Amino acid sequence: MKALILIGGLGTRLRPFTCNTPKPLLPIVNKPFLQYQIELLKKYGIKEIVFCLSYLPHTFEDYFGNGSRYGVKIHYVHEKEPLGTGGAVHNARQYIDKPVLVFNGDVMMDLDIERMRKYHEKNRSKLTIALTRVKDPTIYGLVETAKNGRVERFLEKPSWDEVTCNTINAGAYIFDPSVISLIPKGVNYSLERGLFPGLLAKKEKIYGYVSCNYWIDIGTIGKYLQVHFDIIDGSAGAQITGKKTRKNVWQGKNCAINREAVIEGNIVMGHNVKIDEFAQIYGKVTVGNDVRIRKGAILTDCVIHDNTDIGEGVRLEKCLIGKHCQIEPQANVSPGCALADDSIIKKFSRL
Ligand code: GDD
Ligand code: MG
Repeated sequence: MKALILIGGLGTRLRPFTCNTPKPLLPIVNKPFLQYQIELLKKYGIKEIVFCLSYLPHTFEDYFGNGSRYGVKIHYVHEKEPLGTGGAVHNARQYIDKPVLVFNGDVMMDLDIERMRKYHEKNRSKLTIALTRVKDPTIYGLVETAKNGRVERFLEKPSWDEVTCNTINAGAYIFDPSVISLIPKGVNYSLERGLFPGLLAKKEKIYGYVSCNYWIDIGTIGKYLQVHFDIIDGSAGAQITGKKTRKNVWQGKNCAINREAVIEGNIVMGHNVKIDEFAQIYGKVTVGNDVRIRKGAILTDCVIHDNTDIGEGVRLEKCLIGKHCQIEPQANVSPGCALADDSIIKKFSRL
């Protein structure tokens, strides 16, 4: 089976980080998000992947090339204008001759693709949608199913008075090729608002496959931070990159932690990270490459991207700091802050 990954969205809810880097390439615990999806696909023997691109397309090709470095073959399909999730699938139709797996490019999950494929075949389904359960279905696609799993209703971003269950579209599908011709050609078209309700109106067989133990859409600042915590505490079931040098420390090459630094929480560091004396680390912290954490800085539950300098006595809590930032001494960055790449925060600032 081949896989298509939809990665053309603008990632507006993850601005400012997605101004320079598309959402699927943002680092998650120091590894681009898409790499986790590629690893999941490879685990189930899927080695031919089509990237459906629109926003900042060259960045994907620059990073992944033909995929050989990752043990897969990658094809790139470009959209001149964003075609929406449905238009993107139709645009890649030359690769769809057999049932194909389609993934949203921002969902992290431990989907059992083999079981889902068998379920799809057993039901002779036109379309199988992976489902997950959430507390708030209003920000996703609500999926109502009968007891046998057949989908009865699909409602994208319902209002609370329309919510009847807590199962939602997890953003992974198996499409029968016959469905593709129902998508209008060359126009912006949504799977969720167009194709799925349309198929249901025609009484086509769509089944829902309630799947994963772990699931998250990384598309907002809060969720982007959360997925880091989940990987670090092991609940996402993903492998952490870097060498484990203590029970709570993972590090890349050429890192140095001063003996007087206090590492009470868990920290994952990229390459060339330096932590100075009396710096303190609490909770779950991810630090990219070439980062300096200076004397007495206190970091709790935060994510710091590459090439950033955290000054003396700085306090960071539950926040995200972009690439090439300079946080000058004694500045205080409080929960919920997301600092764009190249930010300079002057000394004693309070954010
Ligand atoms: N190629 C291409 N072209 N990809 C696109 C386009 C486009 O025009 N628009 C969106 N995408 C990609 C995004 O990059 C993302 O990976 C995926 O399609 C879904 O878009 P989002 O913008 O993240 O949608 P959402 O999170 O609001 O809702 C979707 O995902 C939910 C699960 O996370 C829907 O599929 C919901 O039904 C679902 O519950
Ligand atoms: Mg999303």
